[in-house]
Amino acid sequence: MAKTKSAYFCQNCGYESAKWLGKCPSCNQWNTFVEELVEKQSSSVPAWKTTPGSQRSNKPNKVENIESSMETRIPTGDQELDRVLGGGLVTGSVTLIGGEPGIGKSTLMLQLALNMTQKRILYISGEESEQQIKMRAERITTSPKAECYILTETSTQNIFKQIQQLDPELVIVDSIQTLHSSQIESTPGSVSQVRECTAELLRFAKETNTPVFLIGHITKDGAIAGPKILEHMVDTVLQFEGDRHHIYRILRSIKNRFGAAAELGIYAMNGNGLREVTNPSEILLSQRDEELSGIAISATLEGARPMLIETQALVSVAAYGTPQRSATGFDTRRMNMLLAVLEKRCGFRLSTRDVFLNIAGGIKVEDPAIDLAVLVAIISSHEDISVSSKICFAAEVGLSGEIRAVNRIDQRISEADKLGFERIFVSRYNMKGLTKEKYSLEIIGVSKIEDVFTALF
Ligand code: TYD
Ligand code: MG
Repeated sequence: MAKTKSAYFCQNCGYESAKWLGKCPSCNQWNTFVEELVEKQSSSVPAWKTTPGSQRSNKPNKVENIESSMETRIPTGDQELDRVLGGGLVTGSVTLIGGEPGIGKSTLMLQLALNMTQKRILYISGEESEQQIKMRAERITTSPKAECYILTETSTQNIFKQIQQLDPELVIVDSIQTLHSSQIESTPGSVSQVRECTAELLRFAKETNTPVFLIGHITKDGAIAGPKILEHMVDTVLQFEGDRHHIYRILRSIKNRFGAAAELGIYAMNGNGLREVTNPSEILLSQRDEELSGIAISATLEGARPMLIETQALVSVAAYGTPQRSATGFDTRRMNMLLAVLEKRCGFRLSTRDVFLNIAGGIKVEDPAIDLAVLVAIISSHEDISVSSKICFAAEVGLSGEIRAVNRIDQRISEADKLGFERIFVSRYNMKGLTKEKYSLEIIGVSKIEDVFTALF
C-alpha cells in the first residue's frame, strides 16, 4: 500500500493545511478543520521534468484548425429539465444537483430514470434500499417501461465494476457524499473523499462519453456540502429549491458549460411525483375576484422565460419601538433601499411602520424589474387603496426615484398581453423602438415614481 500522509481540510471550503488551524484563512469559518488521510504524492519530480516517454501527446493547436463537432444532446423526456440544461443532456457531461433535504432531488432523478425510455440507466443509491426505491418508483409511475437498474453501493471501485458489466447510457449517483473510494482513507462525505469520487466519475464520464448526474447535499447556508471545488469540477450545477411546505419547486441552473445559466424550470410536487409546470404565470397569480390592497403584479423574467408574479405587501403601524422589515423571496436590503426612496423622494412616512413583503408561490426573484411592483404594493397597502388586477409593472427603480429601463421588454409585454392584462407600466426609456400597435394592452411609459402614483391612486 502506498505510504499515506495526512493533512487538515476545511470542511466548509476545502482549504488544505499541513497543521490544524482554528480559523480558516480562506473562508474565515471557525473550527472547520478536520484531519484527513491523503494519498502520498507518488513522485516529487515536477511535471515539466518528467522523462520523454511519459510526456503528454497533446500539442497546441490553432483555433481555426480545430475541427468543430456538433455536441449531441439527449432529450430527457422532461421539458423543464431539458430547458434548464440548455436543450437536453450533453454526452459525457457531469451535472451536479444540489438542494435541501426532502426537496425532491431523489424523486426528480428517479422520475427521469423511469421516463427515459430506450436508454439503459443505472441509478446508484447510497442512501436508500432497493425496496424503498421500488416503493417510490411505484408512486411515480404505473407502468415502468424504462430499462432502469438500481444499484445500492457506495464503494466507487465496486460501482465501476458494475458499470463495466452493465455499460449504462446514463449514470445517476444519489448522493456524492455517500460514496467512498479506497484510494483515500478518510470517511465518506469528507472533503478529500468527495473530491476523489467526483474526479473518478468525471474521468469515467469523459472517457466513455456517458452523462452522469450527481446529487449533492447542501449545508445549512445553502452551499453544496464539500468543497467549492466540486462546483468547479463538474460541467453543470443545478439547484433544486422551493419551500418544502409549498407544492412548487424550482430547478435553477447556477453554472452551465453548455447553455445559459440562470435558466429556470418549475415543478409541482404531487402525490405521484413531480409534475412539470408549463405555464407558470397562471399559478403564480392568485385567483381572486375582489380587489385587495397591497397587491401588485410584476412582469419579471427568470432566465429566458417571462413570468407574471404577484408581490404582496403589508404595511402597519409598528407595535414596538423599532419597526420590523421582512421580505420573503426578495432581498431585504433592496426593500429597505426602496423604502428609503419612498420616504425621501415621495414623502411617505414609512419609518414608523412595519413592512412585510412576500412574493407569491415561494419563489425567489432577483430580476430588478420587480422593483416598481414592490413599491406599488407597499403604497397600496399603506394607503389601503387597491390596484386593479388588470395592471402590471416592469421597471427598475433608481435611488433618486427614477424609473429605469429593463431588458427584453417585448417579451414581458407579450406575456402580459397573452394573459389578458389591460395596462402595463414601463420606463419611458423602454418605449423607444416599441411597436405599441402589436399589443392590445395599453403601455404606459413613466419616468418618475410620482407619475405612477398619480396615475394609480
Ligand atoms: P426526496 O426526493 O426524497 O427528497 P431529497 O432526495 O431531495 O431529500 O423527496 C421527498 C419528499 O417528497 C418527501 O417529503 C415526500 C415528497 N414526495 C411527494 O410529495 N410525492 C411523491 O410522489 C414523492 C415520491 C415524494
Ligand atoms: Mg434523497
